[in-house]
Amino acid sequence: FAGGPLAGLKAVVTSGPTHEPIDPVRYIANRSSGKQGHAIAGALRRLGASVTLVSGPTGLPDPPGVETVRVETAVEMRDACEAALPADIAICAAAVADWRVEAAGQKLKKREGGGAPELSFAENPDILAGLAGHASQRPRLVVGFAAETQNVIEYAETKRQKKGCDWIVANDVSPDTGTFGGDRNSITLIGAGEPESWPPMAKTAVAERLADRIARFFGSTP
Ligand code: PMT
Repeated sequence: FAGGPLAGLKAVVTSGPTHEPIDPVRYIANRSSGKQGHAIAGALRRLGASVTLVSGPTGLPDPPGVETVRVETAVEMRDACEAALPADIAICAAAVADWRVEAAGQKLKKREGGGAPELSFAENPDILAGLAGHASQRPRLVVGFAAETQNVIEYAETKRQKKGCDWIVANDVSPDTGTFGGDRNSITLIGAGEPESWPPMAKTAVAERLADRIARFFGSTP
């Protein structure tokens, strides 16, 4: 992959779900497969970037030539991203749990006489906002994803401003789209000029096109 348009640049990419333990045998997760994030890591690598992929639990193989760090929880994902800095590019495609459970040290037992356990939640760190607002090592281009089911563009732009990232990739994750876990995605790229809605395409094609846009950005920004 030597000598591509992103040669000499370092990227950190998050991908997949996080698993937040409830007790030693149970966890809370979501339906992210890692397909979109892993494809982006691979596409950036093929354009010559040196890439660290920070991945939650997925069934996917590590993309060739990409340093892959496997984590479980949001806190571990945040720490692995921090350890991967400095980087020129950060892309947050992971579906990070917003909350973690204050996990029990032992397996929760069914109560005598029935009744469900009560779980306490704590807020997880926002990895994207942390990278975009990093005090000393902010990547030059920080790209987030926005998983929305309605008012996709408006909500995504609000999220971009709130989290402080440069671009945001809005994808419609309504149940009938199959975006979570499926092979295809339909996205709108916001922040790189006028919003651009791309036709539905394979996640690998979204990744290639996004990597090309990133190469164009760095080609025109010395
Ligand atoms: O993995 P796949 O099955 O291929 O599916 C891909 C995908 C739908 C998961 C992906 O394209 C996607 O949309 N990822 C972001 C999912 C998400 O959690 O979106 P959000 O709108 O809740 O979060 C907004 C942004 O903040 C995202 O960049 C997310 O990575 C980031 N975030 C959120 C919470 C948190 N604690 N830390 C974060 O970094």
